[in-house]
Amino acid sequence: MHSWPHSGPAQSGPEAGRCPTEADTVRRVSAAGAAPLYEQIADTLQAHIRSGVYRPGDRVPSVRKLREQHRVSVATALAALQVLENRGLVAARPQSGHYVRAPDRLHLREPEPSTPPGVACHVDASLAVTLNLGIGDPHEPTLGAAVQGIELVPVDALNRLLGQALRFQPSACHSYDAPPGTLALRQTVARRGLDAGYAVSPDDVVITSGAKEAVYLSIRAVTRPGDTVAIESPTYYALLEVLASLGLRAVEIASHPRHGIDLDQLADVLRTEPVAAVALVPTYANPTGSCMPDAAKARLVRLLETHDVPLVEDDVYGDLAFSGPRPRAVKAFDRRGLVLYCGSYSKTLSPGLRVGWAIPGRYRDQLQLLKLVVNQATAPAPQLAIAAFVDGGGFDRHLRRVRRMYRDQMDATLRAVSRHFPPQTCATRPDGGHVLWLQLPDGVDALELHGAAAAAGIRIAPGPMFSPSGGYRDFVRLNTGFPWRPSTERQIEHLGHLVTARRR
Ligand SMILES: Cc1ncc(COP(=O)(O)O)c(C=O)c1O
Repeated sequence: MHSWPHSGPAQSGPEAGRCPTEADTVRRVSAAGAAPLYEQIADTLQAHIRSGVYRPGDRVPSVRKLREQHRVSVATALAALQVLENRGLVAARPQSGHYVRAPDRLHLREPEPSTPPGVACHVDASLAVTLNLGIGDPHEPTLGAAVQGIELVPVDALNRLLGQALRFQPSACHSYDAPPGTLALRQTVARRGLDAGYAVSPDDVVITSGAKEAVYLSIRAVTRPGDTVAIESPTYYALLEVLASLGLRAVEIASHPRHGIDLDQLADVLRTEPVAAVALVPTYANPTGSCMPDAAKARLVRLLETHDVPLVEDDVYGDLAFSGPRPRAVKAFDRRGLVLYCGSYSKTLSPGLRVGWAIPGRYRDQLQLLKLVVNQATAPAPQLAIAAFVDGGGFDRHLRRVRRMYRDQMDATLRAVSRHFPPQTCATRPDGGHVLWLQLPDGVDALELHGAAAAAGIRIAPGPMFSPSGGYRDFVRLNTGFPWRPSTERQIEHLGHLVTARRR
């Protein structure tokens, strides 16, 4: 916490011979004995935030800009930003600036950190494969499957580039490729890795058919049937499908709704149990939306090194930070090749093109061999189209747009839940991605709710899908990947009624 001086920091004097500005007014009021100047600047900025000039996730003017706008000293500008920080209106991001925080989401509390048993168990993924979450039509919003609306896919640009790839590179597009995938996309992936903090060469990259395949091949490369994999709890249900299909056991580790896996518990488990691998979504996890801070990511890598245990890092949502720079991947801290990084363009561009990648570190040869065995190589045309889109600058422009859309969709969903669900409902506060994790009050049963909602044509993902042992019976995950529509509000309102009617 900052402590505040009683009198404001030094001011610079107004310039002579020009029209009076708002800054001059502020200075005159200050000179007349009103609130310190830095507080007045903070008040002005606060009014701009309240009126929507700056919206959640926007960067407010930098110290330099404030100095120019208000003709004040660095100390005064800094103090103004600190006032805003103390008021909870902006948050500082290292080396980037100050960003407007999302308004407090009405009454929704955060769920408590999870408390799974912490012992290895058989993995039951049957729910994940049987429940219908409403996947499939990007024109039809669903609160169930974690998919995005067609408005968030750059359809025209990708179609054009796909056509060009097929027309101008027919031999590449119509022949068997080698397992690592096209060089063009591997170069693109290597270049973009610098944004996530890791530096790799195109030779370190294996292109896959989505992140699902990357995760499957990675887990397979580092385990044998009967092994135990440590996972965060709750966890992405498709990971459970992989573990179950490979005859692996899981040990569930507690996780915090904002900061992810509990590293103390993971350290205990690594000390006491034979763990073959750890598998996580460290950045904007599915289903909670939690994001491990950098320090925790660095500590995780040290733990892995101590026990010589590999990590399968699923990072499909890392590019979807609602504001500020992209969080660093755990891979950024990996010096010994222990992290098998899995990325994808499904969440940022198009899930249907099925383009993802693995950066398997020291397990590269095993992974390439597995890729060859499973399906030889990923189809080249989508890879070439995506590489052209990213390298041509379209991806950055597109990301800027969709990050704001995802942020607004998350905010709208949280507000609607707050309006229509009982006040005792708890919700996570993701800063990126497009899934939201809710804890229902008074033991409302998520599977029963799922059935009642499905009967009304509403899809949700019930909590037990996200645990190998059927936990989280009073949780549901909502997808926020579609632009807000009146029908979304109606669905959430109906869900709220169903929850209220089921409270014990
Ligand atoms: C955490 C996570 N990993 C992987 C995937 C699947 O990615 P892809 O479509 O690239 O296979 C999803 C999709 O919802 C996901 O949420």
